[in-house]
Amino acid sequence: MSDDGGPAPIIQVTDVVKLYDDGLVRALDGVTMSAARGEFLAVTGPSGCGKSTLLQLIAALDRPTSGSIVVEGRDLREAGNDTYRRTGIGLVFQLHNLLPNLTALQNIEVAMFSNGRSHGEQRARARELLAAVGLGAKEKVTPPRLSGGERQRLAIARALANRPPILLADEPTGSLDSAAVDRVLELFREIREREGLTLLLVTHDAHVASTADRIVYMRDGKIVAAPEADVPAAAR
Ligand SMILES: Nc1ncnc2c1ncn2[C@@H]1O[C@H](COP(=O)(O)OP(=O)(O)OP(=O)(O)O)[C@@H](O)[C@H]1O
Ligand SMILES: [Mg+2]
Repeated sequence: MSDDGGPAPIIQVTDVVKLYDDGLVRALDGVTMSAARGEFLAVTGPSGCGKSTLLQLIAALDRPTSGSIVVEGRDLREAGNDTYRRTGIGLVFQLHNLLPNLTALQNIEVAMFSNGRSHGEQRARARELLAAVGLGAKEKVTPPRLSGGERQRLAIARALANRPPILLADEPTGSLDSAAVDRVLELFREIREREGLTLLLVTHDAHVASTADRIVYMRDGKIVAAPEADVPAAAR
């Protein structure tokens, strides 16, 4: 149970500090935040305020300098991070890390490698996700021959392949036109309804943020209560 008597959060970040360059850069400066199971949180704030750093730490790609991160009741300092990264979370990065020599379909299948499903099931899942992000006709195309927005949608499909309980996404809709944004938001909505996905999404897009259950504003490595009065979140 949490302090307010509600259910324990699925993600609890407490007093997290992250220093880079021997402490010259204070990327995160005492961040405390949480996400409830099934919640859709939008994280927003100016460039360099620490959004990607926060996501990387929750993804266990790096460790905090101090403070704790507990996901599904497990302290990431003690968790087996390989399994966690493979099945506990889906990740969409700012740079997509797609494999350039594999087709769109294979890029999704490779994320399911060793997930215990048959190849037929993996292929069916990959096709279902490609269709859901509007890339059904592109399954044989390799990432270098996809547009920026298509790559972004492929990265989203790949992140969802193993039905992770949590999706961490860094600007997943940045290169998409409004129709593609709506398609991705609709996909997220469906998966949240069907599977109770918890979604933590970094975005500068006010429309995307407005569809979240809650918006977390960051500034200079800290969570702040509200956006700066003089700069609307949409303009950053
Ligand atoms: N590996 C690193 N080494 C040193 N400094 C870093 C490193 N990664 C990030 N930083 C610094 O930490 C701060 C926070 O960076 P971060 O990438 O989290 O910002 P951001 O909010 O995601 O910005 P953007 O909106 O531009 O993506 C910045 O000052 C950045 O220069
Ligand atoms: Mg970033």
